[in-house]
Amino acid sequence: MSVLEKISSAAFIEIENKYGAHNYHPLPVVLSRGKGVYVWDVEGKRYYDFLSAYSAVNQGHCHPDIVEALINQAQTLTLTSRAFHNDRLGIYEKFLCEYFGFDKVLPMNTGAEAVETALKLCRKWAYEVKGIAEHQAQIIVCEGNFHGRTTTIISFSNDENARKNFGPYTEGFIKIPYDDIEALEQALSSTNNIAGFLVEPIQGEAGVYVPADGYLAKAKALCEKHNALFIADEVQTGIARTGKLLAVHHENVQPDILILGKAISGGVYPVSAVLANDNVMHVIKPGQHGSTFGGNPLAAAVAVAALEVVEHENLAENAAYLGNIFREKIGDYIRESGIATLVRGKGLLNAILINDTEESDTAWNICLRLAHYGLLAKPTHGNIIRFAPPLVMTEEQLEDCISIIIKTLKEFEK
Ligand SMILES: Cc1ncc(COP(=O)(O)O)c(C=O)c1O
Repeated sequence: MSVLEKISSAAFIEIENKYGAHNYHPLPVVLSRGKGVYVWDVEGKRYYDFLSAYSAVNQGHCHPDIVEALINQAQTLTLTSRAFHNDRLGIYEKFLCEYFGFDKVLPMNTGAEAVETALKLCRKWAYEVKGIAEHQAQIIVCEGNFHGRTTTIISFSNDENARKNFGPYTEGFIKIPYDDIEALEQALSSTNNIAGFLVEPIQGEAGVYVPADGYLAKAKALCEKHNALFIADEVQTGIARTGKLLAVHHENVQPDILILGKAISGGVYPVSAVLANDNVMHVIKPGQHGSTFGGNPLAAAVAVAALEVVEHENLAENAAYLGNIFREKIGDYIRESGIATLVRGKGLLNAILINDTEESDTAWNICLRLAHYGLLAKPTHGNIIRFAPPLVMTEEQLEDCISIIIKTLKEFEK
């Protein structure tokens, strides 16, 4: 037994608090192992994972096929940089383009980097193809958005905590209400300088807001009418999470720019990607964008394996099927509940609204209690709890989890 294995949860948390920046507020659980839908803490207690690392572990923890691809590639070649070609990148790019139906991909590492890439690509297209005058391009974004943590991205966030004292901010963004097609039409008509519209098909971090049926299709049509690019941030909603491969597929929409991250690697390695057709992607020339690790052989091998798992194990179908059961059963309970007021979501991206204020700690305390009963979930805002398990969950496991969630909520009934 190693020295580390003898340390208790409390001691691990103390070390993190002392030596790590306090930029997160985790539940007091220290995990040391994961398999499928389960994780175990250092004391050996088993939990259902109902966060899936913010929807990165859709394929389940430590999926053997993905881990095997990682190990094999790690023993062969890990990083070449893009100064040279490698024998994995082109194969991965072809696979990804065919998988999602685009001409080209620009590989990056994290979600925020992929969003940055999409914004740069959109601006460059606006100047060089659409013909907008230099420095005049505007990108429409939505209130309540979450696209990551870079300086530019937080410039158009309306989460004060994410923005305050990080200015000066990047210009060139017009913010409109989410799920408001008239507001989009108005913004698109307000000037000829609109380069694109950046949108989450479901707002995950904001509390799993599902827009009205038809919103995405209408938004795409409006973008086409105004010659603006429709940019879908599917970092959280993508890769089968909402019951389709992409959330935009619920409305048969093909974005002009698609942003992917998180589960594209099954949570095994940071991989992100931006996909577009040649008419957009051709504006990027050597030296204008990139990343040392973007498209490295390890990432390429892992992502191919992770996407094969999604297809072979029918994860989108499973997410759709289990998501309906989740909302139906939790919904039945909520009709008679004083503590929960609503369940909403699509596929296995769901949230329960807690009957208390955003400033209250009720949702946090419910999550602590859920952890006590062996299920890990986290509030997105003070009074909203997100439920997003790995998509490899079985119906029997889901029924067990629904029982735990209802039992816990009942303990908080007023
Ligand atoms: C919709 C969306 N975009 C972008 C990001 C940023 O991804 P990353 O944390 O990998 O930078 C997230 C993260 O939660 C997200 O939900």
